[in-house]
Amino acid sequence: MVSYQFRIMALPLMGLLMATLSSAQTATPPDGWPSFNYQGIITEKSQMLYNPTDEFIFPSVFHAGEYLQDPLAEWYIYYAPHDNPGGISLMYASSLDGPWREYTGNPVISRVWEPHYSVPHTSSPDAAWNSEAGRLFLYFHGSNSQTRWAETDDGLNFDYGGIAVDNAMGGANVTESSYARVFPHPDASSGYAYAMFYMGNERDNIRRIRLAESVDGRAWEVDPDYVVQPGPEEDSNVSAGNIWEWDGQLYVVYHASSGRIYARTIDATLRDIGSVPILLHAASGEGNDTGRVASPEILTYEGGTYLFYEAGDRLGATIAWAKARDES
Ligand SMILES: *[C@@H]1O[C@H](CO)[C@@H](O)[C@H](O)[C@H]1NC(C)=O
Ligand SMILES: *[C@@H]1O[C@H](CO)[C@@H](O)[C@H](O)[C@H]1NC(C)=O
Ligand SMILES: *[C@@H]1O[C@H](CO)[C@@H](O)[C@H](O)[C@H]1NC(C)=O
Repeated sequence: MVSYQFRIMALPLMGLLMATLSSAQTATPPDGWPSFNYQGIITEKSQMLYNPTDEFIFPSVFHAGEYLQDPLAEWYIYYAPHDNPGGISLMYASSLDGPWREYTGNPVISRVWEPHYSVPHTSSPDAAWNSEAGRLFLYFHGSNSQTRWAETDDGLNFDYGGIAVDNAMGGANVTESSYARVFPHPDASSGYAYAMFYMGNERDNIRRIRLAESVDGRAWEVDPDYVVQPGPEEDSNVSAGNIWEWDGQLYVVYHASSGRIYARTIDATLRDIGSVPILLHAASGEGNDTGRVASPEILTYEGGTYLFYEAGDRLGATIAWAKARDES
């Protein structure tokens, strides 16, 4: 009787029916799941000093005040254009709420770095403190076939590191190895100190999230199994996997061809992954927060939970931020 009534009511309401069908492909979030409210744009395109292509992607927030001597400010955010020539860039702020100021020496890592490489672009920076080295490691791709790293004591001037992962390390079908995020390995018994999620594209033109692990943040081993493969909700690509812990549970958070940001549960070994995505963020429709959202970076600090992300078309995006009230 209940389902009969549902059908009578739902059929004339196609919008409601569509919503019901699509929500069936995501899992119900646990209690206390954050709801992110759009706050604004960090990279105001018209005001940026280094702006070769009018698009900015892949925010990576680093707590400079906790690790660096005399940083420019408490917080650094690395980001980059994606299209050629790219160029790893930096803004800084005394608070996660901003305002963010652009570093005048951008880009801090360019597409040509003699004698190490010359590539069409560098992009997708991820800043990860390396406690063994006592330095900040910055991972980035350039070109799309390699994720490299550089090391720095001040976040501004870098020593070249090398290639962290390349296509061959992921297997014979891999055609791109980019969009990496590096974090302390959550499994103390693994023998690894660091883990990386990155995007592997393959000959079938499907983008999946891969896992690499490292003892020192320099030499990496790629796991042959995928972390996230796109399912019916995500459509044909998933990318920009990142780690996030919420309410004692680890998640891999990522974006997809659907234009939305998802989370799947993951265990400390990084090998037991939830089969159904939970929706984490979709564009609110408010202000410039329309269309695609991507490349999530989430931090909880002093009672606020912040989502930094990329808003807009893949080659027209900009860095935006949203904030959730702390419910705990
Ligand atoms: C490469 O792709 C082919 C075709 O889909 C598949 O049969 C093969 O197992 C793949 N090889 C690897 C190493 O993934
Ligand atoms: C998958 O990604 C590629 C490269 O960004 C893009 O050309 C393609 O349209 C994407 N597929 C979907 C369904 O969005
Ligand atoms: C959208 O972004 C542009 C440029 O970044 C800015 O000038 C404009 O005020 C924004 N519009 C809204 C509604 O936020």
